[in-house]
Amino acid sequence: MQKIAVLTSGGDAPGMNAAIRAIVRKGIDAGFEVYGIRRGYSGLLEDDFRKLGRRHVADILHKGGTMLKTSRCSEFATEEGQKKAAGILKKNGIDALIVIGGDGSMRGAADLSEYGINVMCLPGTIDNDVNCTDFTIGFDTAVNTVLDAVSNVRDTSAAHDRAAVIEVMGRHCGDIAIHAGIAGGAEWVCVPEFECTVDDICRKIRAGASKGKIQSIIINAEGSGFNTFDLVKEIEEKTGRETRPVVLSYIQRGGSPTAGDRMLATLLGIRAVELIEEGRRCRALGVVNGKTVDFDIREALEMPHVTDKKLIEYINILSK
Ligand code: ADP
Ligand code: F6P
Repeated sequence: MQKIAVLTSGGDAPGMNAAIRAIVRKGIDAGFEVYGIRRGYSGLLEDDFRKLGRRHVADILHKGGTMLKTSRCSEFATEEGQKKAAGILKKNGIDALIVIGGDGSMRGAADLSEYGINVMCLPGTIDNDVNCTDFTIGFDTAVNTVLDAVSNVRDTSAAHDRAAVIEVMGRHCGDIAIHAGIAGGAEWVCVPEFECTVDDICRKIRAGASKGKIQSIIINAEGSGFNTFDLVKEIEEKTGRETRPVVLSYIQRGGSPTAGDRMLATLLGIRAVELIEEGRRCRALGVVNGKTVDFDIREALEMPHVTDKKLIEYINILSK
């Protein structure tokens, strides 16, 4: 009987559990023995495997986080670590490994494939920074969580005639900020992909105020280059408008996955198992224009990160 293993790596993301459930149940259905590796690449290096049955993944579909736990593992990022990991997988007779994680985890998976390991990668991160897919597992939930926060901040900001700078995650990617900015009606978003100045932001706040806007929502992506607290101070100094910082931090990484994330995770989990059944090797999965797709992992890693500048323009136009 063929053996497959699954691990989650990097920042956890809502929907990782849905993917694990799909992999385990589809894997068993396909006649595989399925193993879970705890704590990502750290658990792999510690040989922390356990066989999973259908009941082990019961009651996790709706839960955020990851039942397998996750980690960042510096040892695995070394050649020695990867060699050791490949040896452990071979020793355990694992025919294919499914890695659920972001671009860092995918780079690790690509390295592991150099040692003859068949690895399948599922894009699991709230950041949406995996370029071979339109959406990563966890992104939709994170944006919705940010939107709830934006609505709440809007209520209190309006009550006080204040501006607010809301910091969101995303590492080097501005997608959470942009999507929450459009869906939440923000006045401005600061993202790593496009430069702007404090004066640009202040001009927008002043223009709004002159038309009777009583509050302004600025969304600052953590990788934009602006420190949220410094930005708040500068906005207050330059516009005279009382401004408050809101750093959403881990609140946006937890929580029950949306229907969209559960569907994405489930479909990609099933497809990963199908690819193994078909004898395919080392693929990075994603969804493009609503269709499940897969690419060679190295090719996927070389795809450029594209951010539609129009989306930023729309935020400006709609908040005039
Ligand atoms: P994510 O997968 O969410 O982007 P990280 O960037 O923290 O999260 O990566 C998760 C883990 O993947 C790291 O702790 C490390 O073990 C491995 N990894 C990250 N980058 C690389 C790399 N360039 N080469 C090999 N392994 C890597
Ligand atoms: O990759 C997901 C993410 O939440 C990023 O948005 C953020 O930069 C990072 O992880 C935070 O990592 P940590 O959990 O190590 O604080």
